[in-house]
This record gives sequence, C-alpha cells and structure tokens, in this order.
Amino acid sequence: MVFSENRISLILLCLWVATISLFPEQISAEFQRFEHPTRGDGTLRFLVVGDWGRKGEYNQSKVAFQMGRIGDELDVDFVVSTGDNFYDNGLEGETDPAFVDSYTNIYTAKSLQKQWFSVLGNHDYRGDVIAQLSPVLRKIDSRWLCLRSFVVNAEIAELFFVDTTPFVEDYFTDPGDHTYDWRGVTPVKSYIANTLRDLELALKESTAKWKIVVGHHAIRSVGHHGDTQELVDQLLPVLQANNVDLYVNGHDHCLEHISDRKSPIQFLTSGAGSKAWRGDLKNMNHHTLKFFYDGQGFMSVKMTQSDVEIVFYDVYGQVLHKWTRSKQLHSIM
Ligand SMILES: *[C@@H]1O[C@H](CO)[C@@H](O)[C@H](O)[C@H]1NC(C)=O
Repeated sequence: MVFSENRISLILLCLWVATISLFPEQISAEFQRFEHPTRGDGTLRFLVVGDWGRKGEYNQSKVAFQMGRIGDELDVDFVVSTGDNFYDNGLEGETDPAFVDSYTNIYTAKSLQKQWFSVLGNHDYRGDVIAQLSPVLRKIDSRWLCLRSFVVNAEIAELFFVDTTPFVEDYFTDPGDHTYDWRGVTPVKSYIANTLRDLELALKESTAKWKIVVGHHAIRSVGHHGDTQELVDQLLPVLQANNVDLYVNGHDHCLEHISDRKSPIQFLTSGAGSKAWRGDLKNMNHHTLKFFYDGQGFMSVKMTQSDVEIVFYDVYGQVLHKWTRSKQLHSIM
C-alpha cells in the first residue's frame, strides 16, 4: 500500500501529540539555550536589577533613569532581571497593563533597549505565571524574555538562570493569604530534581571562562529574608562543585556582596529596583560580608576573558561598592 507509511507516521504523530499534551513536563529535559556572542573587543557588559515592577513608584523610575545613564556609559549588551518583576501579584494575564506601566514605560533609556533576561520571583508566582512567560509579551515589548530556567551563552561567560521559587517549602506548606500558580511545576520534587540535574549537566558541559548563576532567592544574605536554606542545601553544592564564579539574586530588597567561605563563589544581591527595606538586617557578622546597602540601586558587570568588575550604584548613580577579580589565562597565546 502506498499510503501505509504515511498512515503509520500519522498515527505516530497523533501518539506523540497525545503524549506531550498528557505529560508536558517530561519533554522539557534540558534548559533552553540562547547565544549572545561576545562583541569584537572581547568584553561583556550588563546590568542587573531585581524586585522592581511598581509603576515607577518607590524610586523605581529614578533607578531606571540611572540604569539608562550607566548603561550608556558601559554600552551594555543586555540587562538581567533577578525576578519579582511585577508587584504585588505578578501579571494577571498577557494583556495586564502592568507590563507596560511597570516595564516598557519605565526603562525607556536608549541604552536599555537591549535584550532583557528575566527569571520569576515569588511575587510573580502569585499571578498568572504562564502569561509572564508567554511569547505574546515579546510582541508588546521585544526586549522581554522571561523563562523558568535557561542558559545564555555569551562566549567568555555563560549565564545559567534557575527558577528558585519552587525550592522554597514555605510557599507550599505555609502560603498564608497568597495563592501561587504552580502550573508546570508539580510534582515539585521531580521539578526540583530535574532543575538541579539539568543545571549540573549544563555547568559540566560549559567551556566558558566565567560561570554565572542567576536566581531570584539569595543563597547567602544578611537582609530581611536571610539565607535560603533550601538553596544552601541543594543548589550551593552544585555551584561549588562546578567552578561557578558568581551567584546573582534578588529577593532581599537591598544591594549586597558576600563571599563564600569554601569556594571562590561571590554572592551578589541586586534586589533594590524599587521598594527598599531600610534597617532590616540579620546576622551581620555571620558571613564573609563585603558590602551591604539597604537603599535602592542596581549592579553592573563588566568582564573580559581574564577580568571581572562588579559595581553597585545607588539611586543617584553613585558608586557604592566595586569588586574586581582576575583569572589567569590558560590559553597558549
Ligand atoms: C528614594 O531614594 C532616596 C535616596 O536614597 C531616599 O531618601 C528615599 O527614601 C527613597 N524613597 C522611597 C519611597 O523609597
């Protein structure tokens, strides 16, 4: 029969469609990857902001203005958002005006008209998560890209974005008045196991000089929320075992820099995009704390094959803290 082969293909196709619609999680085995090649001069520059979407209020617009200025000075390649993109409860849907009011109409500077890479925060999980991840938002503002976990290969550096909210047990066991949108995340045990496995795989495969992991929740913090124990227990060992240089997060509404005791990892919090929690500190002496600021601001990263420079800025664009590190070049050249 002439059509039998086609018919078999059709049956197989139907089975495949049925399978992926029944078990959508099981096909997303690996992190989605994006390429962002390093520019001709071999440098990579980007800004990091977190915990911001408040329609310009609580100094969000001021921080945005200074990001535009510093972004222009540095000629940034892209912007990283560490999550809690829309307050108080994420987006209500793909057409929620908060997307334009808190994002498009706030980060208007020319230098910020670049690709944004965003993760979800716990507040985003209180809204319609599928909407915030939806490609429809990219039609409204083409800069936007928010995914759960993914990799950006920028040649000299690779950035590994990790969805940390499902790690935090309290959101499941003690949600209080909040409702979380766990679609696509349950059963959470296998979701976390898959995330950790895929991250480990991606880290091991990486040949980039610098490895940067981005999540919403802090591993180490002296701010309001403090350390995230679930991440200390489950995520940190993976980072320590795989030569990660920087862990970048938001969640605590502050700017801070803590060094790991057991590895070269630097913990960098940039969660000061709008409302800041002044004077809310814990365990000031507990960690190898290098810098803490509880007002608004943002962070910049500038790197070459051999050097990295981290700078924190306040709401006036003034430099609060600077940190640099050099790595020897292993190449024969
Ligand atoms: C805005 O920033 C200034 C300078 O840091 C600060 O004094 C003021 O309290 C901030 N406003 C709000 C609403 O956080």
